[in-house]
Amino acid sequence: MEPSVKTVNLTKKFSDITAVDSLSLEISQGETLGFLGPNGAGKTTTINMLCTLLRPTSGSAYICGIDAVKYPLEVRKKTGIIFQEPSSDDMLTGYENLYLHAMLYGMNKNSAEKKIKEMLFITGLEKRAGDQVRTYSGGMRRRLEIARGLLHEPAVLFLDEPTLGLDPSARREIWSYLGKIKSDRKTTIILTTHYMEEADSLSDRIAVIDRGKIIALDSPSALKSSLGEDLVFLKGKISDQALNLPFITHFEKKGEGYEIAVKGLSKNIKKLLEEAEDVSEIEIRRVSLEDVFLKLTGKKIDEEGKEESGGVFESVVRYNSVRK
Ligand SMILES: Nc1ncnc2c1ncn2[C@@H]1O[C@H](COP(=O)(O)OP(=O)(O)OP(=O)(O)O)[C@@H](O)[C@H]1O
Ligand SMILES: [Mg+2]
Repeated sequence: MEPSVKTVNLTKKFSDITAVDSLSLEISQGETLGFLGPNGAGKTTTINMLCTLLRPTSGSAYICGIDAVKYPLEVRKKTGIIFQEPSSDDMLTGYENLYLHAMLYGMNKNSAEKKIKEMLFITGLEKRAGDQVRTYSGGMRRRLEIARGLLHEPAVLFLDEPTLGLDPSARREIWSYLGKIKSDRKTTIILTTHYMEEADSLSDRIAVIDRGKIIALDSPSALKSSLGEDLVFLKGKISDQALNLPFITHFEKKGEGYEIAVKGLSKNIKKLLEEAEDVSEIEIRRVSLEDVFLKLTGKKIDEEGKEESGGVFESVVRYNSVRK
């Protein structure tokens, strides 16, 4: 089957900055691709070229086989975009925003009305559809923008930081709508986010982009298992023999115990505990996408906010260069 999105050496230069550097990528129909990268990596620029809002400097992009440079209008019909910055009209009602979009996309009145009703239902906004958008919460606005992006039934939906600035519960709500869209409509989704948990839970594959280039591309679990080790903290007396087991890649004395990096933890934990002399406490931290990101980009992630509800750990991430 033809890929939903295909880029071949896609490049965008802004004077002396190469924002997107010879990017080649294929995304299958119905796939959700998470685009991760530090600030300025080129995520928005890539999306804007794929949506025909920016013209590539060189290379090509195809949406459902259609050349985005040669046939931008055709490609626009196939794509929906939710921008990084809020873009609905404050003074119009939710319904009016959707209606305006439907008219811009050349939908006829009847099918527009039907689609709007359906999208308001899917995004849970029916009751507020008649209110001006300025009275909406941040989460409702984002939902409205998702409804708008999907109104003309695009084959490919681009979401640039869809949950930025939302509180954790609004963010979860958006995830569940995206999950629904993915399973009901087989829409191909390309998502950029700074929330690692978001990328992990929504994406089939993750592309890590840095300085305009893709530096890793795989499923979240493959990225984690190929690049990371789980960390185990063992409190107590730990024998040298245990610390030198072949699956231990690194250890460090910490307080009254050791922090130990273990490859293949599930398989090897038993052996480690058998060899360790006297363990009074164990703490395990599974490798996360954040660890993978740090390893790949050399950028450190500062956690700005943490939430602990239902055992879910979530963090807002910022990237700062690590001085080495
Ligand atoms: N219109 C423009 N003119 C000049 N430079 C630009 C323009 N748009 C983007 N850039 C530059 O291109 C690079 C990539 O920017 P882009 O917005 O694509 O990054 P991003 O990965 O989306 O970052 P963020 O995570 O901050 O949203 C940056 O260096 C940025 O300053
Ligand atoms: Mg961006």
